Amino acid sequence: MNAVTERITPSITSMIRLDHSQVMAVFHRYRPETSIGRKRALVKNVCLSLEVHAQLEEEIFYPALRNVMSGDDVLEKSQPEHDRMRQMIGELRQMCSNDSSIQEPAFDEKFLELMRLVIHHVADEETRLLPAAERLLPDQLGRLGMDMTKRRLELMKPHAAEFAETTVRSFPAGAAAGAALLTAGAVAVGAMLLSRSNRKNMGSSMSRWRH
Ligand SMILES: [Fe+2]
Ligand SMILES: [Fe+2]
Repeated sequence: MNAVTERITPSITSMIRLDHSQVMAVFHRYRPETSIGRKRALVKNVCLSLEVHAQLEEEIFYPALRNVMSGDDVLEKSQPEHDRMRQMIGELRQMCSNDSSIQEPAFDEKFLELMRLVIHHVADEETRLLPAAERLLPDQLGRLGMDMTKRRLELMKPHAAEFAETTVRSFPAGAAAGAALLTAGAVAVGAMLLSRSNRKNMGSSMSRWRH
């Protein structure tokens, strides 16, 4: 990872906001009258996005914030809220395995319960944690963004086919597809920058080795 790569990669706070927007776009596509196949795709897509996003925050963003703002009540309850979210994701995935469960009103209720939790959690992050990071960690946001892109590629790799398929079913056409494509594009750009950076580092260490 070099200084140029770090400067042109989005900051970690921009990437977190982009993830939140993409999840909200999926939530807004969901209706009780939506077909079973489409509901399954929307739920799977949002669950995968949320799991990856939560893990990235827990591994990279929250630890960096804890170094500069220990004892903050919003930061303290973030992890328990992620755990509650994971429990609800597990229940929804189980219900997704058969069509009759998806048709039940309980499925809509569970999904809307997840939506309420996530909206509240995102509001806390966007009004407290992200501005705090921008105030207290201005010199680290680019490097943390790069770390996040790198880790995202690792976490998404085994799920790339499922994510692509459910994204297409969730956003068959129209402007909302832009948000998902933007995320996919950001990941692709990140992969390209990382591979360039790695090649350069490999080249310089090999030249050091040769001399
Ligand atoms: Fe979070
Ligand atoms: Fe978040």
